Amino acid sequence: MEVIIMPDERKATLLSARLIAAQIRRKPDSTLGLATGRTMENLYGVLAEMHRKGELDFSLCRSFNLDEYIGLPENDPNSYRSYMNHHLFSKVNMDLRNTHLPCGCAPDLAKECEEYEKRIAECGGIDLQLLGIGRSGHIGFNEPLSSLASRTRDKALTPTTIQQNAPLFPRPEDMPKRALTMGVGTILEAKRILMLVTGAEKAEIVAKAVEGPITSMVSATALQLHPKCTVIVDESAAEHLQGKEYYRWIFRNEPEWQDYQDLLD
Ligand code: GLP
Repeated sequence: MEVIIMPDERKATLLSARLIAAQIRRKPDSTLGLATGRTMENLYGVLAEMHRKGELDFSLCRSFNLDEYIGLPENDPNSYRSYMNHHLFSKVNMDLRNTHLPCGCAPDLAKECEEYEKRIAECGGIDLQLLGIGRSGHIGFNEPLSSLASRTRDKALTPTTIQQNAPLFPRPEDMPKRALTMGVGTILEAKRILMLVTGAEKAEIVAKAVEGPITSMVSATALQLHPKCTVIVDESAAEHLQGKEYYRWIFRNEPEWQDYQDLLD
């Protein structure tokens, strides 16, 4: 695992966007694993702007989102499908038929999850998986005690997650209490993982995720098992990390990061 500390949220977002852009330029038909949440809104804004300026072509990309609420139709303004259409898909040249989210209204949810896994495999697996982290330490909606080998399935949300996301609903009590989510095992199969974490309220959980012992109580700790996982944090989210000086040294000195040094200015 690598941890990159950026001076502020804007630069953490810019670095994430540049790494995604580099992936798409290297492999124009990349399969992207996408995430939702407030943290991703600006990131999708930067990617949309790169596309608008003619710097980034999504036409051959495919995408699979991590999760979707159960019981919300796709066209509900609070569904993750609506979120993705609004923040990214309507602003770039992705073919909507190549964008996938699990369907939280499918008549047979277990079958839907199985088919979702099959569709990912048919696309050759995920090249780059983007992740945020929830306050419960979840990735996707893999709440505490999710098996580290779990696959896409139906998951009950914890009170912490409900409290975190309910304010995004016009009537907070309408937030679904269950979701379909890729499993931790599904996520770990991505060829590369990029986790973006910003803000002081995530400082404690990201320190546990990165430097704490691997435990299903914090599903993000499973990322320590992945051979190519980069965690990008801003200074506020980095507050409780023990190894800050080492992480900064790596970013300044490793050849892989030399093209990104301007972000430290
Ligand atoms: C939701 C999503 C997660 C995301 C989390 C963080 O719970 N299921 O994938 O990481 O939100 O959200 P935010 O960026 O709003 O803190």
